[in-house]
Amino acid sequence: MKVAVLGTGYVGLSTGVCLAEIGHEVVCIDVDERKIDLLKEGKSPIYEPRLEELLIKNSTEGRLAFTTFHQQGLREADIIIIAVGTPQSDDGRADLSYLEQAAKDLAEHIVRDCVVVVKSTVPVGTNEYVKQLLLGQLKSNVEIKMVSNPEFLRQGSAIEDTLKADRIIIGSDDVSASEKIQEMYRPLNVPFLLTDVRSAEIIKYASNAFLATKISFINAIANLCEAAGADVEDVAKGMGFDKRVGSAFLNAGIGYGGSCFPKDVKALLHTSRELGVPFSLLEETISINEHQQELLVDKALKRFGTLNGKKIAMLGLSFKPNTDDMREAPSIKIARSLTASGAEVAAFDPVAASNARKVIGDIITYVDSAVEAAKDADALFVVTEWEEFKQHDVAALLDVMKQPIIFDGRNCLDEAALKACKTIEYYPVGRPAV
Ligand code: UGA
Repeated sequence: MKVAVLGTGYVGLSTGVCLAEIGHEVVCIDVDERKIDLLKEGKSPIYEPRLEELLIKNSTEGRLAFTTFHQQGLREADIIIIAVGTPQSDDGRADLSYLEQAAKDLAEHIVRDCVVVVKSTVPVGTNEYVKQLLLGQLKSNVEIKMVSNPEFLRQGSAIEDTLKADRIIIGSDDVSASEKIQEMYRPLNVPFLLTDVRSAEIIKYASNAFLATKISFINAIANLCEAAGADVEDVAKGMGFDKRVGSAFLNAGIGYGGSCFPKDVKALLHTSRELGVPFSLLEETISINEHQQELLVDKALKRFGTLNGKKIAMLGLSFKPNTDDMREAPSIKIARSLTASGAEVAAFDPVAASNARKVIGDIITYVDSAVEAAKDADALFVVTEWEEFKQHDVAALLDVMKQPIIFDGRNCLDEAALKACKTIEYYPVGRPAV
């Protein structure tokens, strides 16, 4: 099938690459010339495992192309997938301006009957709005059918999540359009849920808000465990054995970040307010998360009395491992509060330092290794659970630190290694200190 994908962010690019991988002819369109130039050279503008490998393979084999020209990208497409961003507006609602621009560009250049798929995360009712925009501005006399097909891939495992998805949601009021999208995805051999457009739109927000709430719930339990002298890891394990609860997303820590959960919970809350449906549970999810992001600094303040003049090593900057994405990363708040309290911060992240510098700026120092960050530090903050930190020889870090004090915001350091250290003060989240 001939597919055009509008937008080459995480979702658009992963989708385009994976659709080419399963045999479709895909053209990815983006207005950002720099990105398209990189992609044409076989380079991924984002760090994502396996993405570049599949990008090169499918481009070389002639199934994947990139362009900034809508006319060129849309000329032969039977299916057009919109995967542009829907960032958060100041009032919490989803900002639809990229989507509106995409609809305008499509209307101008669509020259044949096609199915338009909205993959971007959009508030309920948006597919209908996009259809109206398209119909109002179309330049050619063509038939357009809409499908809502939300995306559930995670950054850091975007390719795996796409190729081995748990489910594919296809929301459409048109049987032939729904069948066409099923046909496109059939090689993936993944279960489909066929539904109406509005339900598909809500499934996306409900899923993200539920997972975010699960995280805030376990974080609240972690704080309770700390006060009660219990261990949240065992509590989560004990809960997770129950299939109705499930063990995923019960890792306590310093809160969720990223480009999705924070904005999607707020957008769903906004929708519920607009529709007059009380949903204060979401307010609590947000508030627990904001509090959780302060946790390490609060603990350090309690331990030291003041952070003025203290040297803090930060391990990890990205909002989670295997990505260089800094959007809504807890590290931003932590770095700002540490420096505002007079601390000096040296941070190391395997891939996110240059993106971090753009957001956090030069109020902290960026170094090239965990040991370098730890040198002469009064305390070490573990902020992102990169595999290399989990595997790191803790003794080697303690050796170079001024004081052997670790605040582990992800409960990820090797417990046996910690216990083997002669002098250490180790403060995990929701577990007894060592
Ligand atoms: C999330 C969803 O998991 C995807 O299904 C969805 O497609 C995506 O948003 C989206 O809407 O585009 P993502 O933001 O990439 O994916 O990352 P997650 O792996 O879900 O992690 C989000 C945040 O939750 C991270 O900051 C992570 O550290 C935190 N987290 C996750 C926890 O604190 N505890 C956990 O147990 C799990």
